[in-house]
Amino acid sequence: MFVDSHCHINDEILLPGEDEVIKRANEKGVSLIMVVGYDLESSKKAVEIASRHDGVYAAVGFHPENLEGVSNEALLEIEELTKNDKVVAIGEIGLDYHWFKEEKDRQNQKKWFVKQIEMANRLHLPLSIHARDASEDTFEVLNEHRPLFGAVLHCYSGSVEMMKRFETLDLYFGFDGPITFKNAVGPKECVKACREDRILTETDSPYMAPTPYRGKTNEPQYIVEIIAQMAYLREVSVGYMENKVEENFRRLFLKK
Ligand code: NI
Repeated sequence: MFVDSHCHINDEILLPGEDEVIKRANEKGVSLIMVVGYDLESSKKAVEIASRHDGVYAAVGFHPENLEGVSNEALLEIEELTKNDKVVAIGEIGLDYHWFKEEKDRQNQKKWFVKQIEMANRLHLPLSIHARDASEDTFEVLNEHRPLFGAVLHCYSGSVEMMKRFETLDLYFGFDGPITFKNAVGPKECVKACREDRILTETDSPYMAPTPYRGKTNEPQYIVEIIAQMAYLREVSVGYMENKVEENFRRLFLKK
Protein backbone atom coordinates (compact mmCIF):
# COMPACT_ATOMS: atom_id res chain seq x y z
CA MET A 1 0.00 0.00 0.00
CA PHE A 2 1.03 3.59 -0.60
CA VAL A 3 1.71 5.99 2.25
CA ASP A 4 0.96 9.67 2.74
CA SER A 5 2.95 10.32 5.90
CA HIS A 6 2.01 14.02 6.12
CA CYS A 7 -1.12 15.77 4.90
CA HIS A 8 -3.59 18.40 6.07
CA ILE A 9 -6.99 17.17 5.02
CA ASN A 10 -8.02 18.85 8.28
CA ASP A 11 -7.39 22.18 6.47
CA GLU A 12 -10.44 24.23 5.53
CA ILE A 13 -9.38 24.05 1.87
CA LEU A 14 -10.25 20.33 1.85
CA LEU A 15 -13.12 20.46 4.37
CA PRO A 16 -15.86 19.35 4.47
CA GLY A 17 -14.96 16.99 1.59
CA GLU A 18 -12.41 15.01 3.61
CA ASP A 19 -14.27 11.69 3.44
CA GLU A 20 -14.32 11.91 -0.36
CA VAL A 21 -10.64 12.85 -0.36
CA ILE A 22 -9.83 9.71 1.66
CA LYS A 23 -12.02 7.59 -0.58
CA ARG A 24 -10.20 8.83 -3.70
CA ALA A 25 -6.86 8.09 -2.03
CA ASN A 26 -7.92 4.57 -1.03
CA GLU A 27 -9.06 3.88 -4.59
CA LYS A 28 -5.50 4.66 -5.76
CA GLY A 29 -3.99 2.36 -3.12
CA VAL A 30 -3.02 5.15 -0.71
CA SER A 31 -4.14 3.32 2.43
CA LEU A 32 -1.90 4.72 5.18
CA ILE A 33 -2.49 8.40 5.79
CA MET A 34 -1.24 10.73 8.53
CA VAL A 35 -3.36 13.82 9.12
CA VAL A 36 -1.20 16.44 10.77
CA GLY A 37 -2.38 19.22 13.08
CA TYR A 38 -0.78 22.67 13.25
CA ASP A 39 -2.68 24.25 16.15
CA LEU A 40 -5.28 23.11 18.69
CA GLU A 41 -8.32 23.25 16.41
CA SER A 42 -6.64 21.51 13.47
CA SER A 43 -5.23 18.88 15.84
CA LYS A 44 -8.71 18.14 17.18
CA LYS A 45 -9.99 17.89 13.62
CA ALA A 46 -7.12 15.53 12.69
CA VAL A 47 -8.06 13.21 15.56
CA GLU A 48 -11.73 13.34 14.62
CA ILE A 49 -11.00 12.41 10.97
CA ALA A 50 -8.56 9.63 11.97
CA SER A 51 -11.11 8.17 14.38
CA ARG A 52 -13.59 7.67 11.57
CA HIS A 53 -11.29 5.98 9.02
CA ASP A 54 -9.23 2.80 8.92
CA GLY A 55 -5.59 3.39 8.02
CA VAL A 56 -5.82 7.09 8.89
CA TYR A 57 -3.76 8.39 11.82
CA ALA A 58 -3.22 11.76 13.45
CA ALA A 59 -0.36 13.94 14.65
CA VAL A 60 -1.12 16.76 17.07
CA GLY A 61 0.84 19.88 17.94
CA PHE A 62 1.63 23.54 17.32
CA HIS A 63 3.38 24.52 14.07
CA PRO A 64 5.98 27.31 14.47
CA GLU A 65 3.88 29.63 12.27
CA ASN A 66 0.80 29.09 14.47
CA LEU A 67 2.02 29.97 17.92
CA GLU A 68 -0.50 32.77 18.65
CA GLY A 69 -2.82 30.33 20.42
CA VAL A 70 -0.15 28.38 22.25
CA SER A 71 0.05 28.22 26.05
CA ASN A 72 0.82 25.61 28.68
CA GLU A 73 -2.94 25.00 28.95
CA ALA A 74 -3.22 24.47 25.19
CA LEU A 75 -0.36 21.96 25.35
CA LEU A 76 -2.25 20.10 28.07
CA GLU A 77 -5.17 19.86 25.68
CA ILE A 78 -2.83 18.51 23.00
CA GLU A 79 -1.59 15.97 25.53
CA GLU A 80 -5.18 15.01 26.28
CA LEU A 81 -5.75 14.32 22.56
CA THR A 82 -2.87 11.81 22.55
CA LYS A 83 -4.98 9.47 24.70
CA ASN A 84 -6.82 8.57 21.50
CA ASP A 85 -5.23 5.42 19.97
CA LYS A 86 -5.19 7.01 16.51
CA VAL A 87 -2.79 9.74 17.64
CA VAL A 88 0.66 8.37 16.83
CA ALA A 89 2.88 11.47 16.75
CA ILE A 90 3.43 15.02 17.95
CA GLY A 91 3.50 17.41 15.00
CA GLU A 92 3.93 19.38 13.18
CA ILE A 93 6.41 21.21 15.33
CA GLY A 94 9.70 22.91 14.61
CA LEU A 95 11.24 26.13 13.34
CA ASP A 96 10.27 28.40 10.44
CA TYR A 97 12.65 31.28 9.83
CA HIS A 98 11.32 32.06 6.36
CA TRP A 99 8.57 34.37 7.59
CA PHE A 100 10.05 35.10 11.00
CA LYS A 101 13.18 37.24 10.93
CA GLU A 102 13.13 38.69 14.43
CA GLU A 103 15.22 37.11 17.14
CA LYS A 104 12.43 37.25 19.73
CA ASP A 105 10.08 35.28 17.41
CA ARG A 106 12.78 32.71 16.73
CA GLN A 107 13.49 32.31 20.43
CA ASN A 108 9.77 31.82 21.03
CA GLN A 109 9.65 29.14 18.32
CA LYS A 110 12.58 27.33 19.92
CA LYS A 111 10.94 27.46 23.34
CA TRP A 112 7.73 25.76 22.13
CA PHE A 113 9.64 23.34 19.90
CA VAL A 114 11.61 22.14 22.93
CA LYS A 115 8.50 21.91 25.12
CA GLN A 116 6.77 19.77 22.52
CA ILE A 117 9.82 17.50 22.06
CA GLU A 118 9.87 16.97 25.82
CA MET A 119 6.16 16.22 25.81
CA ALA A 120 6.60 13.66 23.01
CA ASN A 121 9.44 11.98 24.89
CA ARG A 122 7.34 11.81 28.02
CA LEU A 123 4.42 10.32 26.06
CA HIS A 124 6.67 7.90 24.11
CA LEU A 125 5.67 9.43 20.76
CA PRO A 126 7.70 10.24 17.62
CA LEU A 127 7.78 13.71 16.04
CA SER A 128 6.80 15.21 12.71
CA ILE A 129 9.13 18.19 12.27
CA HIS A 130 8.81 21.30 10.13
CA ALA A 131 12.11 23.09 9.42
CA ARG A 132 12.19 25.94 6.93
CA ASP A 133 15.31 28.07 6.43
CA ALA A 134 16.33 26.86 9.86
CA SER A 135 18.40 23.70 9.33
CA GLU A 136 21.26 24.67 11.59
CA ASP A 137 19.12 25.66 14.58
CA THR A 138 16.86 22.63 14.08
CA PHE A 139 19.93 20.42 14.24
CA GLU A 140 21.14 22.15 17.39
CA VAL A 141 17.79 21.87 19.17
CA LEU A 142 17.41 18.19 18.25
CA ASN A 143 21.01 17.44 19.18
CA GLU A 144 20.42 18.91 22.64
CA HIS A 145 16.89 17.54 23.05
CA ARG A 146 17.04 14.15 21.37
CA PRO A 147 13.73 12.70 20.19
CA LEU A 148 13.67 9.38 22.05
CA PHE A 149 10.98 7.74 19.91
CA GLY A 150 12.05 8.84 16.47
CA ALA A 151 11.29 11.80 14.22
CA VAL A 152 10.79 12.72 10.59
CA LEU A 153 11.94 15.94 8.97
CA HIS A 154 8.86 16.50 6.89
CA CYS A 155 9.16 18.02 3.39
CA TYR A 156 12.92 17.82 3.62
CA SER A 157 14.38 20.76 1.71
CA GLY A 158 17.96 21.01 2.96
CA SER A 159 21.20 19.86 1.34
CA VAL A 160 22.53 16.31 1.07
CA GLU A 161 25.35 17.31 3.40
CA MET A 162 22.86 18.53 6.03
CA MET A 163 20.84 15.34 5.57
CA LYS A 164 23.92 13.30 6.48
CA ARG A 165 24.29 15.35 9.67
CA PHE A 166 20.62 14.81 10.53
CA GLU A 167 21.13 11.09 9.94
CA THR A 168 23.48 11.07 12.91
CA LEU A 169 20.37 11.91 14.98
CA ASP A 170 18.63 8.92 13.39
CA LEU A 171 15.94 10.99 11.67
CA TYR A 172 13.60 10.02 8.84
CA PHE A 173 13.08 12.26 5.78
CA GLY A 174 9.76 13.00 4.06
CA PHE A 175 9.64 13.94 0.37
CA ASP A 176 6.79 15.66 -1.47
CA GLY A 177 5.70 17.29 -4.72
CA PRO A 178 8.95 19.21 -5.31
CA ILE A 179 10.79 15.98 -6.19
CA THR A 180 8.61 15.87 -9.33
CA PHE A 181 9.36 19.50 -10.32
CA LYS A 182 11.64 19.80 -13.32
CA ASN A 183 14.05 22.34 -11.84
CA ALA A 184 14.15 21.03 -8.27
CA VAL A 185 17.69 19.64 -8.31
CA GLY A 186 18.29 19.68 -4.53
CA PRO A 187 15.30 17.56 -3.46
CA LYS A 188 16.06 15.02 -6.19
CA GLU A 189 19.67 14.70 -4.97
CA CYS A 190 18.39 14.15 -1.44
CA VAL A 191 15.96 11.43 -2.58
CA LYS A 192 18.84 9.60 -4.24
CA ALA A 193 21.15 9.97 -1.23
CA CYS A 194 18.64 9.13 1.53
CA ARG A 195 19.02 5.90 3.49
CA GLU A 196 16.54 3.30 2.28
CA ASP A 197 15.29 2.65 5.81
CA ARG A 198 14.73 6.35 6.53
CA ILE A 199 12.78 7.57 3.48
CA LEU A 200 9.07 8.51 3.48
CA THR A 201 6.52 9.78 0.95
CA GLU A 202 4.11 12.61 1.74
CA THR A 203 1.93 15.13 -0.06
CA ASP A 204 1.65 17.97 2.51
CA SER A 205 -1.75 18.46 0.84
CA PRO A 206 -3.56 20.76 0.19
CA TYR A 207 -0.28 22.49 -0.72
CA MET A 208 2.53 21.65 -3.17
CA ALA A 209 0.77 19.34 -5.62
CA PRO A 210 3.19 17.24 -7.69
CA THR A 211 3.54 17.44 -11.47
CA PRO A 212 1.17 17.25 -13.45
CA TYR A 213 -1.16 18.79 -10.84
CA ARG A 214 1.18 21.63 -9.88
CA GLY A 215 -0.73 24.73 -8.81
CA LYS A 216 -3.91 22.76 -8.09
CA THR A 217 -5.25 21.64 -4.73
CA ASN A 218 -3.14 18.72 -3.58
CA GLU A 219 -4.64 15.49 -2.22
CA PRO A 220 -3.26 12.25 -0.74
CA GLN A 221 -4.19 10.38 -3.94
CA TYR A 222 -1.28 12.16 -5.68
CA ILE A 223 1.17 10.09 -3.63
CA VAL A 224 1.09 7.87 -6.71
CA GLU A 225 3.09 10.52 -8.65
CA ILE A 226 5.54 10.98 -5.78
CA ILE A 227 6.31 7.29 -5.23
CA ALA A 228 6.73 6.80 -8.99
CA GLN A 229 9.25 9.64 -9.13
CA MET A 230 11.05 8.36 -6.03
CA ALA A 231 11.37 4.88 -7.55
CA TYR A 232 12.61 6.38 -10.82
CA LEU A 233 15.26 8.51 -9.09
CA ARG A 234 16.47 5.58 -6.98
CA GLU A 235 16.37 3.14 -9.90
CA VAL A 236 14.10 0.60 -8.23
CA SER A 237 10.59 -0.60 -9.05
CA VAL A 238 7.54 1.18 -7.68
CA GLY A 239 6.56 -2.01 -5.83
CA TYR A 240 9.96 -2.19 -4.13
CA MET A 241 9.83 1.48 -3.11
CA GLU A 242 6.24 1.08 -1.92
CA ASN A 243 7.24 -1.75 0.43
CA LYS A 244 10.22 0.13 1.85
CA VAL A 245 8.20 3.28 2.54
CA GLU A 246 5.44 1.28 4.19
CA GLU A 247 7.98 -0.53 6.39
CA ASN A 248 9.52 2.80 7.36
CA PHE A 249 6.15 4.36 8.19
CA ARG A 250 5.16 1.40 10.35
CA ARG A 251 8.53 1.32 12.13
CA LEU A 252 8.42 5.03 12.96
CA PHE A 253 4.73 5.58 13.73
CA LEU A 254 2.95 2.27 14.35
CA LYS A 255 5.46 0.27 16.38
CA LYS A 256 3.36 0.32 19.55
NI1 NI B 1 2.64 20.30 6.83
